[in-house]
Amino acid sequence: MKKKVNKIGVLCSGGDSPGMNAAIRAVVRTGIYNGLEVYGIMRGYSGMVENDIIRMESRSVANIIQRGGTILKTARCKEFMEYEGRKKAYENLKAREIDGLVILGGDGSFRGAQTFSNEFDIPCIGLPGTIDKDIAGTDFTIGFDTAVNTAVEAIDKIRDTADAHDRLFIIEVMGRDAGYIALHSGISTGAENILIPEKKTDINYIIESLLEKERRKKLVNLIVVAEGEDFGGADELAKVIKEKIPNLETRVCILGHIQRGGSPSCMDRLIASRMGYHAVECLLEGRHNVFVGIVNNRMHYIPLNEAVKKKQRISEEWMKIVRILAT
Ligand code: F6P
Repeated sequence: MKKKVNKIGVLCSGGDSPGMNAAIRAVVRTGIYNGLEVYGIMRGYSGMVENDIIRMESRSVANIIQRGGTILKTARCKEFMEYEGRKKAYENLKAREIDGLVILGGDGSFRGAQTFSNEFDIPCIGLPGTIDKDIAGTDFTIGFDTAVNTAVEAIDKIRDTADAHDRLFIIEVMGRDAGYIALHSGISTGAENILIPEKKTDINYIIESLLEKERRKKLVNLIVVAEGEDFGGADELAKVIKEKIPNLETRVCILGHIQRGGSPSCMDRLIASRMGYHAVECLLEGRHNVFVGIVNNRMHYIPLNEAVKKKQRISEEWMKIVRILAT
C-alpha cells in the first residue's frame, strides 16, 4: 500500500552509537529538502509516549555530524512495550499529524516499530544504529566501525604494557549477543584467542593452547572476550587461567562504555548520511516497515521482521584465521 507522508518523526532507541547524529542530520535535511515537516522525538519511544517532540529545522542539526551520542537522547522504554503506552504514543503523533517515522536503533527497537506500525498503520523505517553489528541483512551498522577502532586503539596500548611485563591480558569488549567487536578488534590486534557468544567456549582448548605456547616460549599476551561469551566473561576466564597456570601473570581489562562514545569515524558518518537519506526516500516512496541496510556497498531495504528474527552467522574461515595467525 502506498502512503504519502507529509510530517515525519525521527528518534533514537536503545543504546546510543557513534554516527547517530550524522543520521539524524541526514533525515532532517533530506526531509526538509523534500518539503516535509520533520520532528525530533526525545528519548526514544518515551518521547512519543510523553509527547516530548520538537520541530526540527535545518539549523537544528548544524555542527553535529562529528559528535558522538545523540542530540535527541535515547532510552529503552518499558511503557511502549504495552499496548496502552503505544496507543498514547499514537495519539501524540496523530495530534501533530505525524504520518511517518524513522527509528534509529537495534533489533529490539525495530521489534517495537514493527508492532506499532501494525497496530496503528504508521509507516516505520529503521536505521541500524548499534555498535554490536548484530542485525542480519546489512554489512554495517552505524557505530560499529567507530567502536571497533576505539577498541583497537585501547588494545594496542594494553599490548605495550602486557609486553613490557610479559603478562597475559584478558580484554573484555562489548557485545551482549554478538561477537563482532571482539572478532574484528581481536584479529586486528593479533589476539591469541577470541571468545564470542556465537561459539561455545572450550576452556580446555584455551588452557592447552596457553600451555603449549608456554612450552614453545611464545609470548602470549592478549585474549579478547566479548561480554556475552558463555563462559562468564573476562573475570571468570582469568580465575580459571590463574588456577591452571599459576605462573602466568594475568590481568583483566574491561573496556566497557568507552566503546560507545567518541567522534564517529569517517565510515560511520558516511553510512549514517547515506542511510538517513534513504530512510526519507523510503517514506516518500510509500514503503512500510523496512530498515535500510548496506550490502556490497549498495542500499537494501529489508523487512523489519527479518532483522528481528535472523542473527548474523560468524564465518568459520574467520575463526580459522584467528587460530592460524596466533601460532
Ligand atoms: O547494544 C549495545 C551495547 O553496547 C551492548 O554491547 C551492551 O551489552 C549494552 O549495549 C550495554 O547496555 P547499557 O548501556 O544499557 O548498559
